[in-house]
Amino acid sequence: MEAVSTVKSISQSEAEAIKFQGIASENPEELLRMNSGFAEWDRVCGGGLASGSVTLVSGDPGIGKSTLLLQIASDLSAKIPAFYISGEEGESQIQMRAKRLGLEKSTLQLASSTNLSSVIDCLSRVASISDKRGIPAFVVIDSIQTMTCSLSDSSAGTLAQVRECTQQLVNFAKATGVAVMIVGHITKEGMVAGPKVLEHSVDTVLYFEGDKRSPYRILRAIKNRFGPTDEIGVFDMTENGLQEISNPSALFITNRQDSVTGACVFAGIEGTRPILMEIQALSVNSFLPSPRRTVVGWDSGRLSMVLAVLEARCKINFSQKDVFLSVIGGMRISEPAADLCVAFALLSCIKKKPILKDSIAFGEIGLTGEIRPVSQTEQRLKEAQKMGFSKVFMPSSKNKHSGIDIEVHSVDNVMQLLALFD
Ligand code: TYD
Ligand code: MG
Repeated sequence: MEAVSTVKSISQSEAEAIKFQGIASENPEELLRMNSGFAEWDRVCGGGLASGSVTLVSGDPGIGKSTLLLQIASDLSAKIPAFYISGEEGESQIQMRAKRLGLEKSTLQLASSTNLSSVIDCLSRVASISDKRGIPAFVVIDSIQTMTCSLSDSSAGTLAQVRECTQQLVNFAKATGVAVMIVGHITKEGMVAGPKVLEHSVDTVLYFEGDKRSPYRILRAIKNRFGPTDEIGVFDMTENGLQEISNPSALFITNRQDSVTGACVFAGIEGTRPILMEIQALSVNSFLPSPRRTVVGWDSGRLSMVLAVLEARCKINFSQKDVFLSVIGGMRISEPAADLCVAFALLSCIKKKPILKDSIAFGEIGLTGEIRPVSQTEQRLKEAQKMGFSKVFMPSSKNKHSGIDIEVHSVDNVMQLLALFD
């Protein structure tokens, strides 16, 4: 009861007057968008970067964040003032990289510093960005883990420092209308002191990811206050930097022979775009007390569920088998729509019979073994047709897909799927 009695009611004079507004507005303030020359980047950002926004670009060290942002910043510098501040590399190192990327003629301004307070102070003084109504500018801070600001006396990369620096950058962006890009590495310690703890304080979170052994990189919007999430952009890391890939479907499918078992092509939707991806499965006898389940590019919990359903409904025993599942080309699938494709690839491997080469599959599997329809069927079918596929395995649907010349094989439960191999 003590706590209640100590709470003082706020008198009217102490309370701050809040002015309410209707939700409708005659002419709401339009967001200024900054379009780079990279269509993939602009789409992931929700139609160009919004002025005054703070975006976190995170990813494993060495994945290509600095390269990507150097290219974007150089492109943007043709239209707006653009600044690249690196706490990781010296100016000459960045200049050398820019030369290799053919960006040496751009008007991008470089600086090497780890003192964020000085950086913000200097940037605020630059005439063109100190005035909110002026031309918005673009600033890259590479990386947040190397920066320190005077308000916190802990060392660079610690939780307190990373948080304080981010807050300073958010305040700066909101006050000036500058679009700020923050690079954040994901490290082992980073799980605590890195990008994860910043996600709520920034407007947009982009992950730059991919398998380092493959040249393909995927930029994925995880959070976006100014646009859709789940949108992806696909890039190819070449000797001359990152190149956009506007038709990624061809990349994630192998040129396999007719006789290969355990591979199935999935028609997925990433953001607003359909993409075809090949899923491969392998199941072999295990000599381990608890058999191995190795998944690359898909959710391991989801794989366990598909295995359990196949075990319970189709009487296929996986308890003494190692199971490996992999999505080609470093792609990561999050849709349950891939269930059918995974089950199909597994059965193909177990039954030692290949799946027809010119076919794709999609559908969500339920615990009773039923296969349920998924959203955006038409978009998936159109993409498959465009890529030269002529058959689809999917749950039956009432919708007619006129104008799509693709042979539909309906499978409504996993037992029917198994029967296809008889
Ligand atoms: P980088 O952008 O430095 O990664 P991050 O900032 O995420 O740590 O990229 C590092 C890797 O990219 C490095 O291993 C070399 C490779 N790379 C290319 O393949 N081509 C290029 O044009 C550049 C600049 C880098
Ligand atoms: Mg870097």
